[in-house]
Amino acid sequence: MQISRGESIGDTARVLSRYVDAIVVRAGSHEAVAELAAEAEVPVVNGLTPLHHPCQALADLLTLRERFGDLAGLRLAYVGDGNNVARSLAIAGELAGMEVVVAAPPGYQLEEGHGAKLTDDPRAAAAGADAIYTDVWVSMGDEAEAERRRADLAPFRIDADLLSAAKDEAVVLHCLPAHPGEEITAEVLYGGRSAVWDQAENRLHAQKALLQTLLDA
Ligand code: NVA
Repeated sequence: MQISRGESIGDTARVLSRYVDAIVVRAGSHEAVAELAAEAEVPVVNGLTPLHHPCQALADLLTLRERFGDLAGLRLAYVGDGNNVARSLAIAGELAGMEVVVAAPPGYQLEEGHGAKLTDDPRAAAAGADAIYTDVWVSMGDEAEAERRRADLAPFRIDADLLSAAKDEAVVLHCLPAHPGEEITAEVLYGGRSAVWDQAENRLHAQKALLQTLLDA
């Protein structure tokens, strides 16, 4: 890749389009990925940007479908940082007819308009949920604010007490990497309600299906 040597994203897109059938890109700039997609002649998959993490959302919904059958009507509580993972889950959940509730403290909440209900009360979000989800408190690019984030998000940890507010058969999801003791307790992450390892496996299956779909299109 020549981007670090000054090649434009458009030229990189044009060259890669001659080499490959599809591009999966993980980048620190959402706009860069959008520009790559606009200029490329092959499908461009967002493998993670600070704004969105749609591949993760596909694996998440696959995991819920395996566990519960129909997605429509499921209630998913996302508790923690209103970040890329939360945003993509809200969008995908709405498309699937799910009820997604995002519980985050002031300053960390998603913007309105993605179909999710927003609250700053983790227990209210977890009440009656079919799934409780969290992600790291310090995402890629947030490292300089790590200390403040850990302090602000501490009341939003998923622990056994919060899980008890959900349905008896509720599952716990986390996109990984997890920090046991931080955004989720080890007891919950490794406990009987955790679907996290199925979810991790489903990243493989969902992304294979996504590529197949794009290449067949
Ligand atoms: N929100 C996290 C997701 C890691 C898979 C990040 O962007 O770093």
